[in-house]
Amino acid sequence: MSDKKEIILSGIRATGNLHLGNYFGALKKFVELQDKYDCNFFIADLHALTTNPDPDALHANVKSILAEYLAAGIDPEKATIFVQSDVPEISEMYLLLNMHVGIGELMRTTSFKDKARKCLGIKAPTEGDNDEAFEKEIIGADTNKRVNAGLLTYPTLMAVDILIQKATKVPVGKDQLQHLELTRRFARRFNSFYGVDFFPEPTDFDLSGGAPIKVPGLDGSGKMGKSEGNCIYLVDDPKTLRKKVMRAVTDEGPQGPNSPMSEPVANLFTLLELTSAPEVVTQFRQAYADCSIRYGDLKKQLAEDILNITTPIRERVADMLADEAYISRVVRDGAEKARARAAETLAEMRSIMGIRKF
Ligand code: TRP
Repeated sequence: MSDKKEIILSGIRATGNLHLGNYFGALKKFVELQDKYDCNFFIADLHALTTNPDPDALHANVKSILAEYLAAGIDPEKATIFVQSDVPEISEMYLLLNMHVGIGELMRTTSFKDKARKCLGIKAPTEGDNDEAFEKEIIGADTNKRVNAGLLTYPTLMAVDILIQKATKVPVGKDQLQHLELTRRFARRFNSFYGVDFFPEPTDFDLSGGAPIKVPGLDGSGKMGKSEGNCIYLVDDPKTLRKKVMRAVTDEGPQGPNSPMSEPVANLFTLLELTSAPEVVTQFRQAYADCSIRYGDLKKQLAEDILNITTPIRERVADMLADEAYISRVVRDGAEKARARAAETLAEMRSIMGIRKF
């Protein structure tokens, strides 16, 4: 019965703690989805290896994200939670699918170019993309600065994550849409090469319900992101969190009644809207409009309202982290479910490709 539900799959790279952006943009929605869909949430530890190959950090990150998922309300009784590397079928299918993926299309992927440039220490061109120079840099790079092949084939691995579960709905951020497009292309290509109707083409699953959820950072511009250094983490202790919020960028105050808001202040209001009661937001908006606002008060309120959301999560994370047996039971059960479906897909794929037993 449950396998009639549509299959949703989403993964997160094991590269650090989860922040408010992850919470409002994804986690909170995942919790709502788990009643309605066949939900599969996994920790992409193999993907993390492409950029963060530190063994101790990797394991610690996998564990902390698992704890954060569970603490935020993802229920292993409803959703399948697993670790990518616990499903070896993914690695085998990755090899098989790579036979139908072009190095050219991989090299043209935006995320690859960005990450490869970072490895080589070269800047992105300001105008026009010079692929030829880029390719030369990559091919000519000395072995100390190498761009690892895993980085190039990152989209293959991501496509496998999705296709091996035959997931049809994949909630991802904007920066991942190109990978999803490649996944569709690989699925189509495989189906048409072998003349089969085997892989469904997955689509993006828009979690925003119309109004895009953009969680801004505390540095005045742009969205909250791990690499931006502007994050509030779910596990920040109250002191750290208050300090971060109190230090958030603002401006010199409203320039007159009903004056337009600068981006840094508008960002604080966006955060307030996500975390505070509507009356509180209205009251501060009013105070901004009539110039009586004190940003210190706004920040104090914001910090407390964020803490109202994160404190129970942070406490549950601590409980989870202390209960290794529970976490290992969750991932073992999750892997079992994920492997069952993966093994089925892989067996059929091998057979379609002509890898058959005597
Ligand atoms: N590449 C994704 C990211 O960095 C993580 C990811 C890996 C993923 N495999 C996936 C997301 C499969 C959705 C589906 O955010």
